[in-house]
Amino acid sequence: MAKFNLVVAIDGTAASGKGTISKKIAQNYSVPHLDTGLLYRFVGYKVLQGFDPISAANKLNMSELETLDLKTLKVSNAASEVAKIPLVRANLLEFQRSFAAQPGGAVLDGRDIGTVICPNADIKFFISASAEIRARRRYEELLGLGHSISLKKVLEDIQERDERDSNRKDSPLIPAVDAKKIDTSDMSIAEVYESVSRVIEAELKK
Ligand code: C5P
Repeated sequence: MAKFNLVVAIDGTAASGKGTISKKIAQNYSVPHLDTGLLYRFVGYKVLQGFDPISAANKLNMSELETLDLKTLKVSNAASEVAKIPLVRANLLEFQRSFAAQPGGAVLDGRDIGTVICPNADIKFFISASAEIRARRRYEELLGLGHSISLKKVLEDIQERDERDSNRKDSPLIPAVDAKKIDTSDMSIAEVYESVSRVIEAELKK
């Protein structure tokens, strides 16, 4: 039997650091973590291969997903295009909700976790940072993964996706009213984690 049930929703802009923070929370509190961006990346990848987005979302395959290179700019762009399609979102919804409903809880990060997927999450965060800083972070991450890419291209991708994600009709990128907002532009990962874990500790004491 789990000691507690903790559902943490972490939304935010592309490359804001939400993935890193989510993984740290999951590790520290021993709860599973789902990077929901990967689900949209999986569908985007399939569309680039010529598949229909709605049936690709319907046939989400986590074991296959783990074998694919989903971190390229081409795939991130395709992901944010398919993410505008309501039936793609609907087909991915149940998997995310069941993941969140595991005994003991879970950490999910994405764009609509606090607003649509887990509106009753115990804790919600909305993580952002300036586009330039996010582009620099993502650029360094991609270089580290061996991609050859320019900083300018990464910045353009981030700005384009922010715009598309924030302005789509279905489940746009917006903070939930009860989300704690954190701007990580001038913060180290350790500082962000400290701020986040203070909120979690306070919640667990309730
Ligand atoms: O988080 P990540 O950058 O990997 O997400 C890729 C794209 O997937 C985003 O730009 C967004 O369009 C879409 N997405 C979404 N809802 C989520 C997670 C990701 O629409 N919960």
